[in-house]
Order: sequence, then C-alpha cells, then structure tokens
Amino acid sequence: MTMETAWEAGTLGSPKGPQRLLFGQMHEDAEIERTAFEGKSRVFCIASAGSTALKLAEEHEVIACDINPVQLAYAERRANGAATMTGDAEKAMSFARAFMPLIGWGPGTVRTFLMLSDTGEQMAFWREHLDTLRFRAGLDVLLSRTVLRTLYAPQFLSCLPTGFGAVIRKRLERGFANHANASNPYARALLLGESCNDRTARVRKPQFVLGDAATLLESCAARSFDGFTLSNILDGAQPSYRSRLARAVRRAATDDAIVVLRSFAEPPVQLAVNYAERDRSMLWGVVDLRSAHTF
Ligand SMILES: C[S@@+](CC[C@H](N)C(=O)[O-])C[C@H]1O[C@@H](n2cnc3c(N)ncnc32)[C@H](O)[C@@H]1O
Repeated sequence: MTMETAWEAGTLGSPKGPQRLLFGQMHEDAEIERTAFEGKSRVFCIASAGSTALKLAEEHEVIACDINPVQLAYAERRANGAATMTGDAEKAMSFARAFMPLIGWGPGTVRTFLMLSDTGEQMAFWREHLDTLRFRAGLDVLLSRTVLRTLYAPQFLSCLPTGFGAVIRKRLERGFANHANASNPYARALLLGESCNDRTARVRKPQFVLGDAATLLESCAARSFDGFTLSNILDGAQPSYRSRLARAVRRAATDDAIVVLRSFAEPPVQLAVNYAERDRSMLWGVVDLRSAHTF
C-alpha cells in the first residue's frame, strides 16, 4: 500500500472494498479538549463519530474534518439529531464483551461495579471480582497479535506495545483508580456497550469538511486556528505524514494555539506531561496536550 495513512482506506481491516462506518461514538474524553480550549475561538477537530466536534461547537467555531466520507456524513447526521449507529469498532468491542460470562463477569457484577463512586471501593471490587485469572488470560488472547491481525490492517498494529493485554489492564486500573464509575459514561460504554451521547439536533453546529487533515491545514489561512484536536490519526500513518501534519499545524496555529493528540502507543520517554490518566475513556497510552508550536 502506498498510502501515507492507512485511515484513507476507510476500513480497519483489509483496504479492499468500500469505506465503512468505523466509529459510532468516540472513545475519547472530550472534557480534556473542553478544558484545554477554554476561552479559545476557532478549533480544528477530527470529525470521527462527531462526539468531540459537537461538544466543542457549544463554545467554539469548529471545523470538523474527516478523510472517510462515510464517517463525515454520519457525524453531520448526528449534528442534525440522528441516532447513534454501531460502527466496526463497536462491533469488535461487542464481540469481546460476548466473552464476559465465560470469564465469570456476570451482568449483575459489572453493573454493581459501575454504580460505585468511591475509587478506593472500585479498586477493591476490581481486584476481588473482576481482575481474575480468567479475565487476564482472556484479554491476553483477545489482544494478542494473532487475533488482532485477523481484524486490523498491520499499519494500525505497529504502534501497539508488546503485551498489549497487560498494558490495557494497567490503563483500566489507572482509570478505575482515578475516576468515579457512577459518573463515567465511557466506563459504561466500554463495559456495557451503552451509548455515551445524547440525541439532539444542535443549535451551534461544526462545519464538516471532507479531506485529509494535513492537506486541509496546508490550504487554510496561516494563523487561523486556536486549537487542534487530532484524535489518534498518527496511529496508522507513515512517519513522513507525521512531519507534514506537524508543519501544517504550526503554520495554521495562532500564537497561543493548543494541540491535543492521542495514541494507543506507550508514552515516549521525552513526553514531559501525559494527560492519558485524565481521559475517562481509560484506553489511551498518550494524550499529548501542548503548544501547537512545539508540535
Ligand atoms: C483516528 S480515528 C480514531 C477514532 C477515535 N479513537 C474514537 O474514539 O472515535 C478517528 C477518525 O479519524 C479519521 N482520520 C484518520 N486519519 C485522518 C486524516 N489524516 N485526516 C482526516 N481524518 C482522518 C478517520 O477516518 C476516523 O473517522
């Protein structure tokens, strides 16, 4: 494949065939962006399922872009009040949840856990009822290269750390130790498959633009955005794309602009501050929030 980014194919697996709806909702905590962009005006956002763009549009002028036309049209429909749909990512998560009874995670146990709001109690419950030998072995198999390779193109897997099952367990524990389950919609989405988004037509809507983020930013006016939220678009992109995107972001950024970028990779040693712990969706290795001029 000669594509600069595997996301261009619009599929998570084989790049053959039509582009698909990959994300019915976002597994990124938009509170990070809401806080980071406070007082800022114009924001560039990856559309994905639209969740972050819709949230940010309440306070900012939002340009929401996506390389996948199916995904962009879906995000726009959601801005007009359409219901949440199931994307390929949610189908894969639902497949994984189907094994819960087999590892001894009964629906009652999971729901009781999700009602807790004291993080100390959550950790005690996690250790006693959920972080079992069967859970650990099952997650290791589900997140092994052998299984992931059957679902995802190799470009999406190259950023993943070895022993991904154990790494994800650590991230989950970090999440449960820091965020109250009872008020965490992302924990319910992950463990029960519930939608974390309401269904209302928005008064203030993002402007939806089809295209690749770097190309769009290269063509926009210099110093025209105060914030950028780029999802994890570099997980699956070539190194040359990373450099091009960084140049385009710096050119399009106002003096105080902030950029937020997520990754499933483990944090590099040179990352001074990592906001991954604050993200209630719990899955990220890196939530990099920094001045756009050091991006
Ligand atoms: C990177 S994916 C990840 C989804 C995300 N982690 C979530 O929880 O929803 C989000 C969206 O980025 C889009 N995308 C990926 N690379 C892009 C690029 N270079 N330019 C524009 N959109 C891109 C994909 O099509 C997808 O809809």
